[in-house]
Amino acid sequence: MNNTPWWASEDVWRKIAVWITAFMFVVLIFLTFDSVSKITAGSERVPPYSVINKRIGYEFNAERNMQVPVIGEQAPLFGQALTEEEAEALVTHGKKVVQGRNCMNCHTLLGNGAYFAPDLTKAWLDPAWGNEASRETLMTMFLKDPTNNARTFGSGRKMPNMNLTDEETRAVIAFLKWMSSIDTNGFPYNFKTIQQEG
Ligand code: HEC
Repeated sequence: MNNTPWWASEDVWRKIAVWITAFMFVVLIFLTFDSVSKITAGSERVPPYSVINKRIGYEFNAERNMQVPVIGEQAPLFGQALTEEEAEALVTHGKKVVQGRNCMNCHTLLGNGAYFAPDLTKAWLDPAWGNEASRETLMTMFLKDPTNNARTFGSGRKMPNMNLTDEETRAVIAFLKWMSSIDTNGFPYNFKTIQQEG
């Protein structure tokens, strides 16, 4: 005679394992779609690519107790307003340059990468670029020749010349501007913004 209670039988536990696995598989599919909808450009926290035509502010939100990007009036990158398609092509190009040149070997973007060099997630809003008018020019000069335009902030670390073309540089800056507009829940923490004039 078998004295094992029904709930301790091998058969019951096998069924429980199968049901839990199947259930979690469904949860995983749901979470995947949910995540994709939240990281897609044009969703609540990730603005459409054409946001590079706008001014991007970064303001303290008392309710959320964190810095939050604020999309402002028209302020086209390099003075050239782009359509959504053109902006997407440019930002995508910039992202591919960043991936292709392995900027993540030294930098962090949206939580991925290394800590040798400054976090690039909000680099567009970095106060060190000076005022808004000079920012695009200074970023271009820096990216084209980072050793001779080094800022280093006392770290003594210099960025090597990545030999970016003019077009690649423009695309990288577009990518950095778009990335800075993403609501990253205040990440990276304690990032100070450029003084934005009205
Ligand atoms: C070998 C390491 C290394 C690699 C690879 C690298 N960088 Fe840098 N980068 C640095 C260092 C170090 C600094 C800080 C020094 C400075 O500002 O002069 C820096 C600074 C920057 C800044 C200024 C950030 C700020 O807010 O001050 C930008 C923008 C930047 N890098 C973009 C890039 C891009 C785009 C790539 C890839 C094409 C790249 N970097 C690849 C080391 C690197």
